[in-house]
Amino acid sequence: MALLFSLGLVGHITSVSGLSFSVPASPPSNASGQLSAAPVGVSLEFFAFPAYMEDVDATTTCLQNLKDLTGTWPPLRIGGTTQDRATYDAASTNAVNYTVASPSDAPDSLTFGPSFISIAASYGGDIILGLNRRLDNQSNTIAAAALAKSKMDNLYAIELGNEPNFFTSSDPIADGESWTASADYSSEVSWQDAVCGNLSASNVISAGVFFGTSPMSIAGLTVAEGGTNAYVKDYCSHNYPQSASTANLSLLMSHTGIASEIEPFAKEVSAAKSKNKPHIFGETNSATQGGGGISPTYGAGLWILDYVMQTLLLGTEALYFHQGTIGNCQYCWWGRYDMGSPYYGAYFATMALANADQIAPLDDQKSAYAAYAIYKSGAPVRVLLYNSDYYTSGTRPSQTYTLSGLSSGIVTAKRLTAPYSTSRVDYGQNPSVAGQTFANGTCSIQGTKITESTTVSAGAATFTVGASEALLVYL
Ligand SMILES: *[C@@H]1O[C@H](CO)[C@@H](O)[C@H](O)[C@H]1NC(C)=O
Ligand SMILES: *[C@@H]1O[C@H](CO)[C@@H](O)[C@H](O)[C@H]1NC(C)=O
Ligand SMILES: *[C@@H]1O[C@H](CO)[C@@H](O)[C@H](O)[C@H]1NC(C)=O
Ligand SMILES: *[C@@H]1O[C@H](CO)[C@@H](O)[C@H](O)[C@H]1NC(C)=O
Ligand SMILES: *[C@@H]1O[C@H](CO)[C@@H](O)[C@H](O)[C@H]1NC(C)=O
Ligand SMILES: *[C@@H]1O[C@H](CO)[C@@H](O)[C@H](O)[C@H]1NC(C)=O
Repeated sequence: MALLFSLGLVGHITSVSGLSFSVPASPPSNASGQLSAAPVGVSLEFFAFPAYMEDVDATTTCLQNLKDLTGTWPPLRIGGTTQDRATYDAASTNAVNYTVASPSDAPDSLTFGPSFISIAASYGGDIILGLNRRLDNQSNTIAAAALAKSKMDNLYAIELGNEPNFFTSSDPIADGESWTASADYSSEVSWQDAVCGNLSASNVISAGVFFGTSPMSIAGLTVAEGGTNAYVKDYCSHNYPQSASTANLSLLMSHTGIASEIEPFAKEVSAAKSKNKPHIFGETNSATQGGGGISPTYGAGLWILDYVMQTLLLGTEALYFHQGTIGNCQYCWWGRYDMGSPYYGAYFATMALANADQIAPLDDQKSAYAAYAIYKSGAPVRVLLYNSDYYTSGTRPSQTYTLSGLSSGIVTAKRLTAPYSTSRVDYGQNPSVAGQTFANGTCSIQGTKITESTTVSAGAATFTVGASEALLVYL
């Protein structure tokens, strides 16, 4: 990365500091590995899954919008805290059955019936199904897993327990003993043996499913397993960078902040790779505990955009952004009524990655300004620029990027923007992607598409990206 300063005469210093990147004609040494067809996925809270699919109109269109970009339905994971409160009831005629004091509560206990699995089977994309381990009803989990295996052509993997690092000695699975990392690792392995043994299946378990990297970790689990575990499909981490008590949007969406936040997961990815298995973020989103106001913002959407790119570069295969209780979910991408600003970031990330093979960072991840080259069949097809400066009022600062090494005479670009980093759809400050928005309630894309074009001269072109904006340049 070079900083270019164009200075006028003394007394007339007008100008511009800009960034300059040469776009490598082939993937550079720090490019990612082969990308999967749909790295941006969705996690749906277990008890809410049937209602998302059947009662929330926006769900199918929001997923379809992403599929329209890539040709592949985004992968789904069904799970979360309530997977470890759920018992399968083969006789139930309801997909889920529970009672709550208020519609904004998640149930403390629930049952699910065979139609839960039928709804999952009807989805067009891959599904990771999260089943219960905490309640220690192994035959019940095996019955549900067997039904899923027989009915779901789209079953990608099964989880046995959600975030076991939060299990305690009073959970049935602990059998009165303290719940340590080694207790969890041996429990995971013995449950995998029993479930996969009964199903006569291998390569089907999404293992680990730990929140964060300590005290339980994929690195620790893979050591405890010893050799390669044929039952494992992938190793799964959960990550929420912030919580209500730490909420800081400027840090969340910061390009350098993201790099340091994800750094501890590098060893988890390597541990998975050492077993020749993919690593995934099977559940992730911006902030836990309601998010302290930052989760519904456009800035959280910008976080998604850059976090996806940086975690793919770390070597993860896919990310599943969690959608929680319908009507009580700050970070949700859509609801029954309004869209969520974060969806715009997910959509833009999917646009950037659609049908790509590799991405490469052009910058050194030490400034607020990101640039990624996106490759297909070994040649650059797009460049993603992201200005992570936080912006909430006044004149909007901007950054200029000069890209060189371009071969066409003119390039086009699509912009992700919103009035402010803090903009929320429900406050009327709609973000836009190439000038378009997603309709509240339906998720249909609406408005006139705006494509910008820039002339290339001597193989170079300059682009301006405002604070808290991103630009996708089509080479
Ligand atoms: C739902 O749960 C209630 C309370 O346990 C039970 O009485 C009812 O039969 C269940 N309904 C179905 C369809 O399983
Ligand atoms: C375990 O599941 C079975 C059905 O698979 C059920 O009959 C039994 O009541 C469950 N046990 C507990 C303790 O919930
Ligand atoms: C099938 O599951 C049962 C009940 O959990 C377990 O005891 C048994 O060992 C399993 N069978 C195989 C072949 O793994
Ligand atoms: C939020 O994070 C930014 C960037 O790290 C920092 O400069 C700022 O002081 C933080 N704000 C608060 C209120 O902690
Ligand atoms: C990636 O490599 C390029 C050189 O090809 C370098 O300029 C850039 O800083 C590197 N970025 C990272 C994050 O490694
Ligand atoms: C969505 O609804 C909110 C009101 O809740 C409104 O302010 C906003 O402009 C609407 N967004 C779109 C894209 O229509």
